[in-house]
Amino acid sequence: MITKEAVLNALSTVMDPDLHQDLVTLNMIENIQIDEDKVSFSIVLTTPSCPLKGKIEADARKAVLTMTKAEEVDIRMTAKVKNSKTIDLGDNCFRHVIAVGSGKGGVGKSTVSLNIALALANDGAKVGLLDADIYGPNIPRMLGIDHLPDIADYKKLRPAEIHGLKVVSIGFMVQPGQPLIWRGPMLHSAIQQFITDFEWGDLDYLVVDLPPGTGDVQLSLAQSIPISGAVIVTTPQQVAIDDASRAVGMVEKLEIPLFGIVENMSYLTMQDGSKLYVFGENGGGSLANQVGTRLLGRVPIDPGIGVGGDIGSPVVMQEPLSDSGKAFVEIARNVAAEASKAAFNKIKSG
Ligand SMILES: Nc1ncnc2c1ncn2[C@@H]1O[C@H](COP(=O)(O)OP(=O)(O)O)[C@@H](O)[C@H]1O
Ligand SMILES: [Mg+2]
Repeated sequence: MITKEAVLNALSTVMDPDLHQDLVTLNMIENIQIDEDKVSFSIVLTTPSCPLKGKIEADARKAVLTMTKAEEVDIRMTAKVKNSKTIDLGDNCFRHVIAVGSGKGGVGKSTVSLNIALALANDGAKVGLLDADIYGPNIPRMLGIDHLPDIADYKKLRPAEIHGLKVVSIGFMVQPGQPLIWRGPMLHSAIQQFITDFEWGDLDYLVVDLPPGTGDVQLSLAQSIPISGAVIVTTPQQVAIDDASRAVGMVEKLEIPLFGIVENMSYLTMQDGSKLYVFGENGGGSLANQVGTRLLGRVPIDPGIGVGGDIGSPVVMQEPLSDSGKAFVEIARNVAAEASKAAFNKIKSG
């Protein structure tokens, strides 16, 4: 007769490779059921985007098969995003705020923000995207939406909703073609209103597309809401790297954890399968090394990204199995893993 204790004992030998503790200590095991030689249970991960999901499941199965008399193991993989520093604003609740910045404009910050937000949502997380780029609020065009839903019936402003993503853009608030000249206090209250006056509801991740550089919006956001971590996007050229390292400096000054660097437009795949490093090789990787963070991933140059961005058709939705689509999914999962690690370390250090 297999006992629950025997199953838990087996599972306590299985480590979460990111959090460096075993599944039982991490309270990840639920609903153990035993029916003769058949064992079933749930593993509750800290994010549905866990990049190590497959490994954890395989390790758990192997442990139960080898350490108990079970002949059949049925595992249900689920997830619950947790953070002891969850931002609870009554109607709105944000478990992780992820800021996406860059040194320069045009490096693909909005493309990265949008596609990682969509990839997280596709994995099953509740995700919001806030386009706070006052200089170039491009997210609406990239999603093919240009206005907020009709709000007459609601007390609060409602984000637009598309592909399972809640979206608010500073672009919804201004006339197309009109430059935004908000500065200082006005900008600060605009950022605060984005967070409090919209009905975001309960979100696992709020991804914020920041303006390029190191200015007022970054400061206002950091003062308005605790940010779980920042992602810095760069292309491989030296000029972009120089500016990106200044953005890293600002993140450090604001005491925001740095989740890592995304190297965008890394290379172009030629017809014979070889890679052409149009903007130089490994600029983002060297920057990550230099500042002591991780490279979250590389996105190749993909003409489909430019075209898709113009017609509201993001690559993660349109071509999820292309090289760039797969790169965004991997980057999103690495970001989610960093958020889980940051939350876990906060719990451990009290
Ligand atoms: N990997 C890529 N391959 C091809 N085009 C890209 C790629 N990343 C971004 N682009 C295109 O480059 C332009 C700038 O990207 P965008 O995300 O708007 O940059 P940013 O927000 O940093 O200003 C857009 O037209 C976008 O579609
Ligand atoms: Mg942009």
